[in-house]
Amino acid sequence: MKLPRQFFQPLAIGAPAPMRELPVRLERMIHFVPPHLEKLRAKVPELAKSVDVVLGNLEDAIPIDAKEAARKGFIEMAKSVDFGPTGLWTRINALNSPWALDDVIEIVGSVGDKLDVIMLPKVDGPWDIHYLDQLLAQLEARHKIGKPILIHAILETAQGVNNVEAIASASPRMHGMSLGPADLAASRAMKTTRVGGGHPEYKVLADGSGDAPRAAYQQDLWHYTVGRMVDACAAAGIKPFYGPFGDFSDPAACEAQFRNAFLMGCLGAWSLHPTQIAIAKTVYSPDPEEVAFARKIVDAMPDGAGAVMIDGKMQDDATWKQAKVLLDLAKLVAAKDPEMAARYGF
Ligand code: GLV
Ligand code: MG
Repeated sequence: MKLPRQFFQPLAIGAPAPMRELPVRLERMIHFVPPHLEKLRAKVPELAKSVDVVLGNLEDAIPIDAKEAARKGFIEMAKSVDFGPTGLWTRINALNSPWALDDVIEIVGSVGDKLDVIMLPKVDGPWDIHYLDQLLAQLEARHKIGKPILIHAILETAQGVNNVEAIASASPRMHGMSLGPADLAASRAMKTTRVGGGHPEYKVLADGSGDAPRAAYQQDLWHYTVGRMVDACAAAGIKPFYGPFGDFSDPAACEAQFRNAFLMGCLGAWSLHPTQIAIAKTVYSPDPEEVAFARKIVDAMPDGAGAVMIDGKMQDDATWKQAKVLLDLAKLVAAKDPEMAARYGF
């Protein structure tokens, strides 16, 4: 393990110093754009105003014969669009693919000063983060990039889940992690054919007697992994995210999956279809009623000490801290969204 004094040293002479604190940014939806498609690229200037993060996807879902066009399209899009406060990310190809090296070299060389985060797929362990960390430092030094480019890992292999804590704390460049349920299902040999979401056969059957019908309760296939990911991220001071939900015809199930992740500690999810932008916005902006209650708690115990009763419920240091999480997030949402600011009464 790297010793604490070395942890924040730049990995290349001339590279910017690693960040000690992550930038405070709203990242409720990471919106995926296939950058080889000119028609979709043309929509990015407008799109950037309505999402928190625009991500140019170079990996899965991009046809092999379009890999280079996607990389070039991303560079063109990054150069020509003013993203303002909206995050600009790319998902590069996996490190063992024929494209990953050129993805990093060409993108950092051309638009490294505009790029906030590189999403790295199929991360198996901290060694993958160390490799990209070092390469990025060399390229930042070569291209005189002033602000470190952060790394966001996709948790989508069984080995990655085994190593989740080590991945989360591999480098000060770690921004966060997203669950990748489709690849993870394949890696684990789960018997599903879906991109995220539940399965009707993953259920608990209530006790019963005789021939009376028995209630069945569908369970969340992703609960265990999201729980591990949230703990690893929170302990390392980085951000956890739910990933993709592939059934665009089922917005209710998408919302339920996003909300479970939000309640467990995640800060956002991927939007793969324009309809999922609004779902993520609703779910990952805290509910105004919850925010009002959180404000009651903080008003009743400004320094968080002692205990008070509010609406019959005991509040103490721990609920005060929970209230602060909701209020801080609501303030971040309100700063970007006047309509939500009005609903929060800020
Ligand atoms: C995302 O990349 C996934 O595999 O679910
Ligand atoms: Mg994947």
